[in-house]
Amino acid sequence: MSREIDKDVFAGLKLDTLAVRAGQTRSHEGEHSEPIYTTSSYVFDSAEDAAKRFSGEAEGNVYSRYTNPTVRMFEQRLAALEGAEAAVGTSSGMAAILATAMAFLQSGDEVVCSQSVFGTTTALFTRYMKKFGVKTTFVELADLSAWEAAVTDRTKLLFMETPSNPTNDVVSIKAIAEIARSVDALLAVDNCFSTPALQRPLAHGADLVVHSATKFLDGQGRVVGGAVCGKQALIDELVVYVRTCGPTMSAFNAWVFLKGLETLRLRMKAHSDNAMTLAKWLEAQPLVDRVNYCGLPSHSSHEAAKSQMSGFGAVLSFEVKGGQAAAWAFIDATQVCSLTANLGDAKTTIVHPATTTHGRITQQERDAAGISDALIRVCVGLEDADDLIDDMARGLKAVSELHGS
Ligand SMILES: Cc1ncc(COP(=O)(O)O)c(C=O)c1O
Repeated sequence: MSREIDKDVFAGLKLDTLAVRAGQTRSHEGEHSEPIYTTSSYVFDSAEDAAKRFSGEAEGNVYSRYTNPTVRMFEQRLAALEGAEAAVGTSSGMAAILATAMAFLQSGDEVVCSQSVFGTTTALFTRYMKKFGVKTTFVELADLSAWEAAVTDRTKLLFMETPSNPTNDVVSIKAIAEIARSVDALLAVDNCFSTPALQRPLAHGADLVVHSATKFLDGQGRVVGGAVCGKQALIDELVVYVRTCGPTMSAFNAWVFLKGLETLRLRMKAHSDNAMTLAKWLEAQPLVDRVNYCGLPSHSSHEAAKSQMSGFGAVLSFEVKGGQAAAWAFIDATQVCSLTANLGDAKTTIVHPATTTHGRITQQERDAAGISDALIRVCVGLEDADDLIDDMARGLKAVSELHGS
């Protein structure tokens, strides 16, 4: 049997160590790296053992929609990083959000949700939860009085992302958690932009942390998955939903995420450093009107970000002079950046939110969310910052040519 870290030693381990060590259980083969358990079912020692495992009287795997050792390792490692008692893996980030809604809401309940969340999250609440009698009220992320006014004694869930996409607005998680507590509702924070390497919402009073693991937890754009972290009793509810309804994480994807977590903090620091370099450079350019990066002292959320984040992340957005034509010319002139709407990759991505990620909402909704036709979003990757600046300069040269100068 291989050695395991003593409980008291484990309790004192820091984030970088947990990212590499937490959750691993070794088989009798003594493998050093975590294996991928590609099996849909498991064998029992006897008929009695089978009965006991099915009833929950004995621990052990039954079927991979219920548990899988590789998925369990990922769940335990992520929970350790988020400072959570437990986590459950899901087949995608959207499956994690749906699981949260299905496990904790019923007809007649209400949700209060930030209006600056991923568009598909908005659709999940407005198109699907609505069908089952759940009402959602959308509020401006940073407007605490709007959150206070929106909650009622029927509110069971508050949902938000901070920082927001693509304008990088930040709200105090602690303040929203207090509002949730005032009506006995749960606060779920989608932490996919920051990851536990930069922000740990549970430490600020959130009840649940939701992840699209597809993004920075993988970090190299390979597989799709999600997770929810929180107290054991809440995760137990989610586990029942996942087992029953089936949005299970695959063992292979869990293995990719496990490996991703090992380098998470190093990557998030490199992403943040590159993003800061680019944000400062862009802010100094005459053809750039506004840079949205909460790491910049000029951003209205800078102080709030500093108080709950240990780094400011990879995502920034900026407006170029000349509206949509200028933004498109900029994007088309870049050569290193990948023109794709995905984010959380080692490769820098660039997109025009108004005509892609936020193209289906109304002009009025875009205006309210600060998404002008001139806005460009960049999710800064791990390339050399000098090469990225050269790419931004190519974009600005195209804008300058458009202006005839
Ligand atoms: C903030 C955020 N949450 C959730 C999701 C959904 O994740 P997935 O694509 O893994 O279902 C995304 C996807 O882009 C996202 O950006």
